[in-house]
Amino acid sequence: MIVHHGRKRQCLPALAPVIWRTDIGTKIILWQATHSRPIHKPLKIYPQSNAGLLARPNLGKIRAVFSILLFPEVIVAHIGLFFGSDEGNTERVAYRIQQRFGADVVDVRDIADVTQLDFANYDKIILGIPTWDFGQIQSDWEEFWDDIAAVDFSGKQVALFGLGDQFGYGDYFLDAMGMLHDVIIQTGPEIVGHWPTEGYEYEASKAEIPGAAMFVGLALDEDQQENLSAERLNRWCTQIHIEFGLDTPLTMLDD
Ligand SMILES: Cc1cc2nc3c(=O)[nH]c(=O)nc-3n(C[C@H](O)[C@H](O)[C@H](O)COP(=O)(O)O)c2cc1C
Repeated sequence: MIVHHGRKRQCLPALAPVIWRTDIGTKIILWQATHSRPIHKPLKIYPQSNAGLLARPNLGKIRAVFSILLFPEVIVAHIGLFFGSDEGNTERVAYRIQQRFGADVVDVRDIADVTQLDFANYDKIILGIPTWDFGQIQSDWEEFWDDIAAVDFSGKQVALFGLGDQFGYGDYFLDAMGMLHDVIIQTGPEIVGHWPTEGYEYEASKAEIPGAAMFVGLALDEDQQENLSAERLNRWCTQIHIEFGLDTPLTMLDD
C-alpha cells in the first residue's frame, strides 16, 4: 500500500490502493487487478483523524479483497520531532511545536528512547538540541552521536531548533545545533527552517551559516528571551510548514 501526503501520485502495482490525503480529508482510489487503469471509484471522504481506518469500499464482490488490503494500514504522522533535553526546556518547546502542527501531524520522540530505525519512518524531521557546558552537546544527544551520524537523511527534509543562553554563554551560543547540523548534512538532506541572527546578542556561534546572517535553525533562548519564544515559534512553524509543503492546519499560540 502506498500512502501519499499531499497531491503527488506515482506508478502503482495492480491492486494497490492509494490513500490520498487532501485538505478536507482522505480520498481512496482503488485499482483493479485485471485492468491497468483505475476503477476510479473514489469512496467517501473521511476526516483525517480517521483516515484509512474507516474506509470500506463498496465494490460488491471485490470488497473483501480490498478490505484486507486497506485495514492493516495506519496513516503515519507527517513529521518526526526528535529532541534531547537535560532540564526540560527543549522538551517543552518540542510539545509547543507539536501543539501548533497538531498531534496527528507531529510525533514527538525523546532521543534517549529511540534507535536509528525510528528515523526511517519520516521523510520530514525536526531535531531539537540545547547546548551545555561551554559548547557541548546535550547528554542524550551525545550518547546517540555515533548513531545519528549513521542515519541516512538523503531524500529527507530536516529542520533544526536549538536552545541556548546568549548572555551566559555568548561565546558558545547554540553551538550544539551547529554541530548537529554538520553531522546530518553528510548524507545530504534538504535543510529547511533557517533563521535570522538578528535580535540576538552573542559573540560566537557554531550554528551560524557563514556570511549569511542566518542560523541553521530556529534559535530559542528560554533563559534570556523567554518572552519572545511564542512569537518566534509561530513564525518558524509557519515557515517550515510551507517549506515542508504541508496542507494541514496550523495553530498560532501565545504560550
Ligand atoms: C551549566 C550550563 C552550561 C550551559 N552552556 C551553554 C552553552 O555553552 N551555550 C549555550 O548557548 N547555552 C548554554 N547553556 C544554556 C542552556 O542551553 C539552556 O538553559 C537550555 O534552555 C537548556 O535546555 P534543556 O532544559 O532542554 O536542557 C548552559 C546552561 C547551563 C546551566
